[in-house]
Amino acid sequence: MDALKSKYLEGIMAAGDESTLEDLRVAAVGKKGEISLKMRELGKMTPEERQVAGPALNALKDEVNSAIAGKKTALADAALNERLQSEWIDVSLSGRPRRQGTIHPISQVTDEVVAIFASLGFGVAEGPQIENDHYNFDALNIAPEHPARQEHDTFYMHRAADDDRPPHVLRTHTSPVQIRHMEKHGAPCRIICPGRVYRADYDQTHTPMFHQYEGLCIDKGISMANLKWTLEEFCRAFFEVDDVELRFRASHFPFTEPSAEVDIRCSWDKGQLKIGEGDDWMEILGSGMVHPKVLQAGGIDPNEWQGFAFGMGIDRIAMLKYGIPDLRAFFDSDLRWLRHYGFASLDMPNLHGGISR
Ligand code: PHE
Repeated sequence: MDALKSKYLEGIMAAGDESTLEDLRVAAVGKKGEISLKMRELGKMTPEERQVAGPALNALKDEVNSAIAGKKTALADAALNERLQSEWIDVSLSGRPRRQGTIHPISQVTDEVVAIFASLGFGVAEGPQIENDHYNFDALNIAPEHPARQEHDTFYMHRAADDDRPPHVLRTHTSPVQIRHMEKHGAPCRIICPGRVYRADYDQTHTPMFHQYEGLCIDKGISMANLKWTLEEFCRAFFEVDDVELRFRASHFPFTEPSAEVDIRCSWDKGQLKIGEGDDWMEILGSGMVHPKVLQAGGIDPNEWQGFAFGMGIDRIAMLKYGIPDLRAFFDSDLRWLRHYGFASLDMPNLHGGISR
């Protein structure tokens, strides 16, 4: 019995895998196993012998079975540990963003503008990029013979020779959205309209497609003071400086009266632009009080309502804020440029989280 016991227990201890264990189990306590055969011999023993051998054999059988079960668990644990070791990752390591996909500065700046104006109670409106003469020009008080039509370097859509409808144009500014919004929603209103606009022009600061956003606020008792405050509030939030100084220069647009172009105080320090200090001025937008004829064209009574409007270049303020020198690079789709100037995709600009991050 002792020989059997040490033979099997040592074998079990030494077994390296489950199939060796199974072989040992069959050899010891299987139907024809050594211990099972010994148990069968109990019948041939005298009662006295049986009384000693019976419990001893049963104990041996139990011991072998539990040794096998224990070893099985130990083998499984070892296998699991080995796998855990080989598949181990340090979940406390910081991420490694590969910056393959980033948010384009134009999208980022558009989101920033929307977040800031949303906090001032402005909604977002959109209009078509293919416009007709009426919305792009006539309704904005730009008559067919008006010189502003030439200034805009308009792209005209092709018309068949026998088609005498007025031509469609690629909108040259976001101002037509003013008219569309007034027609549909009337007064009062407070909206911004970001989007693409088109002019036939191409150099370091001009591309044939660029982005503007229009601001329109119509209510009772609106004056230039409201316009000035709104723009100053915007610039403070957008450029993230407490002191901004804006300069209103008298100007002319057919759709506003009076009209002003607005410059922001800035300085250039070693090629780096600083907003809010210095002796330079940078033009950032056109603005004014909505012309009575424009209100009328939008179906709003100019004797009852007043409004201010402005149009700002999104690409322009993106270049200013993020120090991007060449406008054309915005639309080259060069991955290296996008990785350098792009923004993390999960950071949405908002006033409490930070506009630019
Ligand atoms: N639409 C003008 C432009 O594109 C900008 C502007 C908008 C000026 C609204 C005044 C009011 O140049």
